[in-house]
Amino acid sequence: MSFLEGKYILLGVTGSIAAYKAADLASRLTQAGARVDVILTQGAGQFVTPLTFQSLTGRKAYTESDLWGGQAHVLHVGLGHSADLLVIAPCTANTLAKLAHGQADNLLTITALAAQCPTLVAPAMDVGMYGHPATQENVRILRGRGVVFAGPAEGRMASGLVGLGRMLEPPELLGHIRRVLGRDGALAGRKVVVTAGGTQEPIDPVRFIANRSSGKQGYALAQAAIDAGADVTLITTPTCLTPPAGASVVPVHTVGEMLEAVLVACREADVLLMAAAGADFRPANISENKLKKRDGIPQITLEAAPDILKAVAGLRSDSGRPRVVVGFAAESRDLLANASAKLTSKKLDFIAANDISASDAGFGSDTNRVTLLFAGGQKEPLPLMDKFAVAETIIARVAAILENE
Ligand code: CTP
Repeated sequence: MSFLEGKYILLGVTGSIAAYKAADLASRLTQAGARVDVILTQGAGQFVTPLTFQSLTGRKAYTESDLWGGQAHVLHVGLGHSADLLVIAPCTANTLAKLAHGQADNLLTITALAAQCPTLVAPAMDVGMYGHPATQENVRILRGRGVVFAGPAEGRMASGLVGLGRMLEPPELLGHIRRVLGRDGALAGRKVVVTAGGTQEPIDPVRFIANRSSGKQGYALAQAAIDAGADVTLITTPTCLTPPAGASVVPVHTVGEMLEAVLVACREADVLLMAAAGADFRPANISENKLKKRDGIPQITLEAAPDILKAVAGLRSDSGRPRVVVGFAAESRDLLANASAKLTSKKLDFIAANDISASDAGFGSDTNRVTLLFAGGQKEPLPLMDKFAVAETIIARVAAILENE
């Protein structure tokens, strides 16, 4: 089940050219299972039509005329009362000013004033308007009242100017929406460190030894932890993936850099989810210059790389942090015996074991078939699931351990 399934989102659209992107956002939210009611201001109606949104959400899109229609007396209060989240995207400088001063002169601003749910605002305006002291003051007032801001981003404006004022792209907005909706979840207030991807161990300035980890399971874990309200640090090697909105990203390349980043982040962490494929061996000497063919075939001597989880076990015995440590075992034979040995030697709370010899599980695949082995001896085989569902299950088990502490 998608995280947004059954969530009720009110999407306010105001008069900016970025209104066309709001159509994409409405579509993505609807496809993810959310119920989306759209309110267009008069200005928004100059850029996009209610029909655009109705066609995407399958629901009536509200306009100014509804404010004075037959249902007007219940509409403005009703919409804001039952929603899980009010998103205003794009939000113009004008609407921002109205929100900051409690003005309620159209259906959207009336709804915002009556709303009992959190509000997320995605500003879109020209550089000068966003930077204007009046707008900045309004942003400060609204932030102080708990309104969440997503963006704006820096980039090229419709005016041709370049600077801060572009509305965030819909996939990024979706990430911010998830973050706000999840903030009271089972891991609210918890610090979770996730590692992802395969490390890159240099041979010379152009070559390295890597592995087949895609980072997908780690990124899914980071998203699932954010959905559950956690404060997430994602320590990642280069991947083709976009980090989830709201994660603090620490980029690393080598297992040595990952070790250092993990030890720093774990000092304060409640949870470590060690999904990365760290190198076990690395070149003992890194050539300063590119190895040349004319010098013959190089002999590369390898040395043992540090085992990050074993180092964390040491830290944990001193400081008690992280409280929960989860490992991953990618095995091509004797899955459960090997995973169980790692569970013990690395002093884990549980380990997710997956058989990488199957074509529908493991490296690069979107699905995983995982068995969870717990320190207490319990074994939980999970069916073939997409990596996000595996991540949600792991997060639920972590939350249960923390709750029973
Ligand atoms: N791991 C680690 N440090 C490393 C390598 C791996 O902390 N240098 C972690 C992985 O992130 C994973 C767990 O250890 O959570 C198991 O990794 P895996 O590669 O399956 O096991 P290894 O201990 O490396 O043993 P082997 O390669 O011999 O199977």
